[in-house]
Amino acid sequence: MKIIESSQNMQSLALELKSLKQKLILVPTMGALHEGHLALVDQAKQLGDKVVLSVFVNPTQFGAGEDFEKYPRPLEKDQELAQARGVDYFFVPKASEVYPAGDQTVVMVTELSRGLCGAFRPGHFRGVATVVTKLFLICQPHAAVFGEKDYQQLQVIKRLAQDLHFPIKIIGVPTLREKDGLALSSRNAYLNTLQRQIALKLPQSLQWAVRAVQQGEQESRVIKEKIIQDLQDPQIKIDYIEVVDSETLEPLPKIKAQARLLAAIRVGETRLIDNLPLKL
Ligand code: PAJ
Repeated sequence: MKIIESSQNMQSLALELKSLKQKLILVPTMGALHEGHLALVDQAKQLGDKVVLSVFVNPTQFGAGEDFEKYPRPLEKDQELAQARGVDYFFVPKASEVYPAGDQTVVMVTELSRGLCGAFRPGHFRGVATVVTKLFLICQPHAAVFGEKDYQQLQVIKRLAQDLHFPIKIIGVPTLREKDGLALSSRNAYLNTLQRQIALKLPQSLQWAVRAVQQGEQESRVIKEKIIQDLQDPQIKIDYIEVVDSETLEPLPKIKAQARLLAAIRVGETRLIDNLPLKL
């Protein structure tokens, strides 16, 4: 596995691969790699000839008072995991490689970034859209792989790729979970034993909703109210529970095909998100 720190070297390499008709597949991450990230690598390996995994804790997608400073950065372990999983290029730029001194350019996906997580994390998706655009231009991939775990992010990036005419396929991968159902996340490391237990209420309430819809429930309000009740706990604060159209992310009062349940909660200081499709 080749380690690349400079954007210029990464871009030259990408252009060289392109001229050799080699398909490069990009897996963007912020590191602290877990099986969820590695599932994206597995998918990437199916899609092309070479895989580049980027590890960059992107400052512009963290708000004031969020966890940018304390975000885990186990770089050596990440390198080992990536290598063991068959990553070809490990791209770890410094902030100055991604944001040149005096930079003034941002990318915004307006409507899709507004609600859900966007309402609770102002500027977050602008930071994501900006850094992903840069990664696309630096790495020039044939395809890029993202997790459905960050469902709004996936929709924002699909829109971005379409709107900016990126000749890049955007591939979504289903959420990888612990045996007990908790979605894998780098932020799970912040949870203590009790909070880890309490966090389970999130996937459990989403799974309950999937069953309720299968059994005929069609009112989003009924589903949301029951979940809010089930999530009552002194350590939980709900940011949102929303049933939305899976492409436009518009709230749906009535469940229909293409409905998806998205939720964000805080357990103590730790923000957790999860989502599942609701099939009629
Ligand atoms: P990060 O949170 O590190 O996630 C990197 C990728 O892994 C994302 O596409 C995310 O959806 C996916 N992922 C995380 N947990 C997953 C799980 N349990 N199952 C499947 N996929 C999972 O998302 C980001 O970084 C950043 O916003 C980034 C896109 C890199 C831009 O900075």
